[in-house]
Amino acid sequence: MASKDIARKPLELFAQGFQQFRVLATAIDLGLFSKIPAMGSTLPDMARVLGFEERPTRILLGALVAMGLLTKRGSRYRNAPIAARYLVEGQPLFYGPFIQMLDRRLYDAYRNLEIGLRTNRPLTADPAVGDLFQTMARDPAMTRLFTMGMHANGAYWAEQLAKRIDVSRHRLLLDVGGGSGVYSIALARRCRGLRAMIFDLPGVLGVAREKIREAGLEARISTIAGDFLKDAWPRGADLVLFSAILHDWPPEVSTELLRKAAAVLPRGGEVIVRETFLDDDAAGPLYAAMSSVTLLVETHGENYAWATYESWLREAGFGRFRRIPFPTTAGSGALLARKL
Ligand SMILES: C[S@@+](CC[C@H](N)C(=O)[O-])C[C@H]1O[C@@H](n2cnc3c(N)ncnc32)[C@H](O)[C@@H]1O
Repeated sequence: MASKDIARKPLELFAQGFQQFRVLATAIDLGLFSKIPAMGSTLPDMARVLGFEERPTRILLGALVAMGLLTKRGSRYRNAPIAARYLVEGQPLFYGPFIQMLDRRLYDAYRNLEIGLRTNRPLTADPAVGDLFQTMARDPAMTRLFTMGMHANGAYWAEQLAKRIDVSRHRLLLDVGGGSGVYSIALARRCRGLRAMIFDLPGVLGVAREKIREAGLEARISTIAGDFLKDAWPRGADLVLFSAILHDWPPEVSTELLRKAAAVLPRGGEVIVRETFLDDDAAGPLYAAMSSVTLLVETHGENYAWATYESWLREAGFGRFRRIPFPTTAGSGALLARKL
């Protein structure tokens, strides 16, 4: 009996996933997208600008055309709209630092994924020092790479968040583990009456201050150095944001952080959980399932489902949930809840 043909294409694409990533990361390191003028470039021009011979240049440009990042009409290569928006340095939503962070922090760690699976221990944290963030705190260059990468990843999602929620009834935001402040900046830009406090480890806050200054928001956004696990939390906020925080920890720590948020908020105060959420049946989406693997490599956390966060929030004294998936991205959204 003839067996039904099952196409192999998905496996072939998975097999090449690492190649597409490295081609993109290399093109960003080369500043390739930033070096293509709006009128486009020919192969000899690009070879000269990059300092390569024509054969490797043609192969690299061909790969980027096939990935949909460049176009080729006649003899001219141009940035496709997605590259012009996200891969050119200086654009507000430049994604390059996130790709570079993944490349330099995680690419090699993924080679040891099986060790992470066998040991159930993060691979990028030094156990003699503590968690990944304590480990990074000893290396200012790595802290900067990570925080700039998170900023580049968050810029698009922060815009999505600020577009989709109305924070005009709030006065003071506490951005727990706020990193570069990318979300506080987007929300403060959107709502002139909002002030914000970025509460994070001291080594991270230099980047936050840089970004706040660039945004001209020094009068409305402050930075507060502290350890959100051990230190007293800043008081006075009526809105608390956790962006990419709760997924870094096992459930007992994440729920403790939600209880701490409830303790500093007044009744009617709001919490925003911004995450890459798993669907309630945990069957996807792909982006959240894959970034959970990164959390295995880096932390004791994982991506949790919308319903899991809702049950934790309910236990911590929150209700009136609103799920806000961001539809134009591979997998991110916000869960809003009120303190009852
Ligand atoms: C994954 S990053 C998220 C940053 C930012 N919220 C965002 O979405 O871009 C986690 C942040 O939590 C901070 N963090 C980790 N452990 C912390 C602790 N014990 N106290 C304060 N901040 C901490 C890190 O420094 C880092 O900025």
